[in-house]
Amino acid sequence: PLVSMTQMLQDAKAGGYAVGQFNINNLEYIQAILQAAEEEKSPVILGVSEGAGRYMGGYGVVVAMVTSVMEAQGTTVPVAIHLDHGSSFEQCAKAIHAGFTSVMIDASHDPFEENVATTSKVVELAHFHGVSVEAELGTVGGQEDDVIADGVIYADPKECQELVERTGIDTLAPALGSVHGPYQGEPNLGFKEMEEIGAATGLPLVLHGGTGIPLKDIQKAISFGTSKINVNTENQIQQTKVVREVLAADSEMIDPRKYLGPSRDAIKNSVIGKMREFGSSNKA
Ligand code: G3H
Ligand code: ZN
Repeated sequence: PLVSMTQMLQDAKAGGYAVGQFNINNLEYIQAILQAAEEEKSPVILGVSEGAGRYMGGYGVVVAMVTSVMEAQGTTVPVAIHLDHGSSFEQCAKAIHAGFTSVMIDASHDPFEENVATTSKVVELAHFHGVSVEAELGTVGGQEDDVIADGVIYADPKECQELVERTGIDTLAPALGSVHGPYQGEPNLGFKEMEEIGAATGLPLVLHGGTGIPLKDIQKAISFGTSKINVNTENQIQQTKVVREVLAADSEMIDPRKYLGPSRDAIKNSVIGKMREFGSSNKA
């Protein structure tokens, strides 16, 4: 069923695992990720960036595609449709009214008081509709669609606690050294802060930039209260590799099903691998 992230993440925190957020770009991503979740018996979060929402034709199209694929595939595991890095109250409101079950309001680039004000407004509307809310503090490095960072800023634990208390969010993404896209060398995650923020807020935490984080760091993050891990780039790498191989092997090929089909399997296998790393398999 379609659900918010609230219960999913509470269960993950209590159970010592993390639920994956996998970003979607088109029908094949939706099919692949939902198939992976069903086979693994894992809860799953479908992440939709504003750019991906535009690409698919709007938030309403996204919800219609996801719900009809769930029906067609007989999905039984819990699924959340989540706006990733929502840039404004208006974007969050659009997603909520279109039927998203979860939103992220990313006002992390704004001054703290503005972040609190915008996030509070989103929480009020979202909770009225039974929709969960993720907020962010600090700066995740790298780039994802419209979200471009010019550096990495670690979240301040005191501010995290205050943001949580004043807004009533369901989950928090404190930026602690993670990066969107590939890492230069090994990531340097602020585990001390993560532990502190997890304990001070009592909330399940979110780790952005899940691509390229070694398993030992994933496990450490989960042990410090991380209950949601976002993965985008890894699935795109695996998908595109197959498209390139298939097209390179046959310069006459023009049937999209012949390159998008096998690449869909690559997405599915990539997602299954992550679910096993995050420990969410057999938790639905
Ligand atoms: O919001 C989405 C993620 O943080 C994805 O990060 O592309 O590095 O896996 P990634
Ligand atoms: Zn992110």
